[in-house]
Amino acid sequence: MDAPTLPISPAGRSDLTHHLHPYTQLRQLEREGPLVIVRGDGVNVFDEHGNGYIEGMAGLWCASLGFSEKRLADAAYRQMTTLPYYHSFSGKVPGPVAALVDKLIEWAPVPMGRVLFANSGSEANDTAFKLVRYYNNARGRPLKKKIIARNKGYHGVTMAAASLSGLPMMHQHFDLPLPDVVRVSCPHFYQFGLPGETEAQFVDRLAQELEDTIQREGPETVAAFIAEPVQGAGGVVVPPAGYFAKVQAILKKHDILLIADEVITGFGRLGQPFGTQVFDLKPDMITVAKMLTSAYVPMSALYVSDQIYQAVADASAAVGVFGHGYTYSGHPLACAVALETLRIYEDDRIVDHVREVAPRLQDGLRKFASHPLVGQARGLGLIGALELAADPAQRKPFEPARGVGAYFVRRAQAHGLIVRVLGGDIIAFSPPLVITEAEIDAMLARTELALADTWEWVRTWR
Ligand SMILES: Cc1ncc(COP(=O)(O)O)c(C=O)c1O
Repeated sequence: MDAPTLPISPAGRSDLTHHLHPYTQLRQLEREGPLVIVRGDGVNVFDEHGNGYIEGMAGLWCASLGFSEKRLADAAYRQMTTLPYYHSFSGKVPGPVAALVDKLIEWAPVPMGRVLFANSGSEANDTAFKLVRYYNNARGRPLKKKIIARNKGYHGVTMAAASLSGLPMMHQHFDLPLPDVVRVSCPHFYQFGLPGETEAQFVDRLAQELEDTIQREGPETVAAFIAEPVQGAGGVVVPPAGYFAKVQAILKKHDILLIADEVITGFGRLGQPFGTQVFDLKPDMITVAKMLTSAYVPMSALYVSDQIYQAVADASAAVGVFGHGYTYSGHPLACAVALETLRIYEDDRIVDHVREVAPRLQDGLRKFASHPLVGQARGLGLIGALELAADPAQRKPFEPARGVGAYFVRRAQAHGLIVRVLGGDIIAFSPPLVITEAEIDAMLARTELALADTWEWVRTWR
């Protein structure tokens, strides 16, 4: 790792002393200090020294409208000065919830019965995990509880959501996963295709693995399958053609629910409102967060089918109450901002815009496919990745300890671009949906500079 490029400021020093950073190599941070971001403008953010960066990740795949959308600030202010807080327990509800649920049902990619609110993607998936139990108990099938999740899936960090996630660092030392989670393979052909195997054969092999897994566990014990349409944090994995069709046929045969985790893909990232439409999914539950509010205020939601709602409603009547909910479920500030976000998506035809500018990003990334550091360039809509490789022809990764992806990210930052490295030296791109073609070009130009720097560095040690 090269030396820090910026001095540690008093704010950075305080942060280092008292803040336990999420998802960070903590000892390294103690040495190098944080990048303190203080301002945003369009797709750019600025650090405390005044340096500007294109936010090539929209923060954490979320700030869809960039970092200075005044309509959202105004909506928040109006709501804060009208009704800053109220709850939805015991038959009450804050005013702005009604308009938001109407709008969300309008946006739903398949018919959905109800929307349940939470504050993060993790909580929405945690809630889905709980509802799988509630639903099957309510239907008199107490054995049907297991959830199948995929390697490299990312569903969040609560006990249940981390258990569903298929990344080992999320389990180590946390004594996870919880029981009732069953794992199957990640549909990343580049990494997991066998020598000589075609994509179609790979899909067949994964489908067979799913069928075998269900048979091994007992179909009467398997309740649900959870999947991101495009896996994000696990490496920006776009499934091969036919994958979801085969998966869904097997789920249907065994009466297994599909939970679509659309926390990254919901509201336009892939050039359709949801990944559900892209891959022709028939989910029974859908989780959304992030771009629901353009990340300006924390909020997530779980869509449930009417069938699930009816069973839950009957069971809760028998129990006396539906014993679940957060203090901030349907928080009026979040509702107001979410509603305004969805109106902006409609007024500004954001999903169409994504479809219009996406080829600029996808073609630009694929031009790097012949770079000697790049094993694969891939993506869909406004999400993409460069998977770096020690030997691209053999799809051979770098030794993780070399930190090649982390080096790239630092060089990109030095050139005014923030991107993220995922495990396996995969560089992820997920810019704000409002990004223009000119801004995409600037992002790609900075990527090229960072690739050149990284290549020069790699050649010094091999
Ligand atoms: C697909 C997916 N699901 C769930 C989550 C968890 O969301 P949160 O960090 O808001 O809890 C994330 C976060 O990146 C995600 O990418």
